[in-house]
Amino acid sequence: MPIITRPEPLDSSYIPDNLRHREDQIESIRGLVIDPLIAGNSSSAIIFGPPGVGKTAKCKLLARETSRVSMVYESFVTFGSIKLLLQDVLLKTGRVTLPSGTSLDYVFKALKQSQSKSGRKIVLVIDESMNAFRDENGIYNLIRAKELHSVEMSTIFVSVDNPLLYLMSGVKRMQYNPVIIKFNRYSVTELESILYNRASIALSADSYSMDILNFIAETSASSGSARVAIELLQKSAYLASHRSSSTIKVEDVRAAMAFINPYVTESKLAQLDFQDLLILLSVCISLGAKAETDVRGIRSSLDMVCEEYSVNKIGIQPLYSGLKELERIGLIEGHIVSAGPGTGTSKVVRLNDIPVSVLREKVESLIQRLS
Ligand SMILES: Nc1ncnc2c1ncn2[C@@H]1O[C@H](COP(=O)(O)OP(=O)(O)O)[C@@H](O)[C@H]1O
Ligand SMILES: [Mg+2]
Repeated sequence: MPIITRPEPLDSSYIPDNLRHREDQIESIRGLVIDPLIAGNSSSAIIFGPPGVGKTAKCKLLARETSRVSMVYESFVTFGSIKLLLQDVLLKTGRVTLPSGTSLDYVFKALKQSQSKSGRKIVLVIDESMNAFRDENGIYNLIRAKELHSVEMSTIFVSVDNPLLYLMSGVKRMQYNPVIIKFNRYSVTELESILYNRASIALSADSYSMDILNFIAETSASSGSARVAIELLQKSAYLASHRSSSTIKVEDVRAAMAFINPYVTESKLAQLDFQDLLILLSVCISLGAKAETDVRGIRSSLDMVCEEYSVNKIGIQPLYSGLKELERIGLIEGHIVSAGPGTGTSKVVRLNDIPVSVLREKVESLIQRLS
């Protein structure tokens, strides 16, 4: 049984039928933009949030399921000016092509004509819209489309940052008060459920475990991005298939991470002294094929390593400060967990962005060079 049974849902352009954990935001868009427009009140909204949190997917999904208005999706990057973008809206909603050099006023006139023919109100989504706000005149006409041009249209601006924070005084003077909807980073649990959903439609059932999905979710948690998480799942699945395995393992995920995020491991390693290298090697040995290891495991590997390289045993205090240094540089990731009732806490260590086998080889060759 191949691991990947349906490749499309793992692709970055895939839009799922529903977006988990974004129900509140879609309700806000419906309740604050679409419904008022149908009732006769144009408005505009700004959606912002870091990359990979579902902004574009949400808008495209909304466009797919909204039949009460014409929902038009455009990316500002393709056009560079509001006028050119609106000409494309005209083409999409009324199949009208205007000659180049048409004025902005004329574009609005044509939009109004086309709208009175179709009778359909327009919700315009402008994705990647940060630079749109440089086109002050275009923005002014767009957010006043109803008053100035009698065009029944609401606009949703989508961007990574809230453009209002960077607005030039000209637009600020318009006393512009849009609805603002923020999309936050996904938590580990949310990423996990998104991954579970994708895996269940794209992968064979026995090729992945909840543990591996959790590992991918944890690994992508610092970005909080579903895009990163899904891409990791995709690449891990391909890497596992490539080594003719029928299941995805943590080493596949680490190798996938090295592809997505080619961290300059060499330059990180160059910052380490001999003792740090010995500790890192013991982390590798103790991890092996496991997702995480703890200080006890690292300590017993470290004793072996010290013996092998004929150096004095390294005590627990230097071990802890060495691990701290490895964490600071970003070579390992550590967190404290409860070791069970009444037993206090213990430190757990993970390696996220490079396969253990690759790191181990690099560290060993550095140690040999230094010893
Ligand atoms: N809540 C979610 N459920 C399922 N898939 C999601 C969710 N949020 C984002 N995705 C997926 O993650 C990828 C990135 O989302 P996208 O909307 O392009 O992010 P943004 O526009 O915020 O950068 C897309 O493939 C999208 O389908
Ligand atoms: Mg986007």
